[in-house]
Amino acid sequence: SFVFEALDGQARQELASFAYVKRFKSGETIFSMGATGQSMMAIAEGTVRVSMLTPSAREITLNDLQSGEVFGEIALLDGGERSATVKALTNCTLIVLERRSLLDVLQRNPKLSIHLIELLCHRVRRSDERMIEIAFLELPVRLARLLLRLTEAAPGSADRPLKKLSQSQSELAGMTGNTRENVNRCLRKWQKAELIELRDGWLILEDRQALEKIAAGE
Ligand code: CMP
Repeated sequence: SFVFEALDGQARQELASFAYVKRFKSGETIFSMGATGQSMMAIAEGTVRVSMLTPSAREITLNDLQSGEVFGEIALLDGGERSATVKALTNCTLIVLERRSLLDVLQRNPKLSIHLIELLCHRVRRSDERMIEIAFLELPVRLARLLLRLTEAAPGSADRPLKKLSQSQSELAGMTGNTRENVNRCLRKWQKAELIELRDGWLILEDRQALEKIAAGE
C-alpha cells in the first residue's frame, strides 16, 4: 500500500511485525465519528466509505477509499477522536497499525512520515475544494455574471473582450456578496482553465461561452 511503499525492507518488516489483519463484512461500521482511536488502517482488499453526519443527521460521504489506501491517520497522529465514520462498502481486509508502534517506526523513518504528511495535505486540499463548492455554490454563477456585465461594452473582439478593471478583488467580492479569498480562488481557477486572463488589472475573457454557461448555472 501507499504507506508501506515508502519503507525500506527493514522498516517494512518491523511494521509488519506490529500489524495485524482485521476483516469486516460489507455494511459493517469500522469505527464511528467521535470514537477514540488508537490505530490506523491500510486497505488490503475492499472499499470503505468515509462519511459524516450533518447537524440534522444526514449522512454526507466525504470519500470512498480503495485497496492500497489508508485511513484513521488523523486520530492516530493527534490522539484525538475519529473525525469521521468509516464503513465497509464491500467485504474488507484491513491491515491495522497501532498508534504506539507506528509512532515508533515514524520517528525512525522520515520517509514514511513525509508520505503520511503528503497524504494529509492531499486530503486537506480536497476538502478545501469541497468546502468552497458546498459553501459558495453560487459564487461562480454570480462572479461569471459580474464579469460578463463588466465586459459588456468592452473593446476587443466580441468573443474575446478586453477590459481594464477598475475594481479591486475586494470590490468584486463585495459585489458578489462573498470574500476576497473566494473570489480570488475562483478567478485563479478560471485563469488556469483558460476561461479568463488577468494581467496588470486587465481582464480578458478567453472563453466567453464557457463563462456564459457558468452564469446560467450550467
Ligand atoms: P480519523 O479521524 O482517525 O478517522 C476518520 C478517518 O477518515 C480519518 O482519520 C481519515 O483517515 C479519514 N478522513 C477524514 N476526512 C476525510 C476526507 N475528507 N477524505 C478522505 N478521508 C477522510
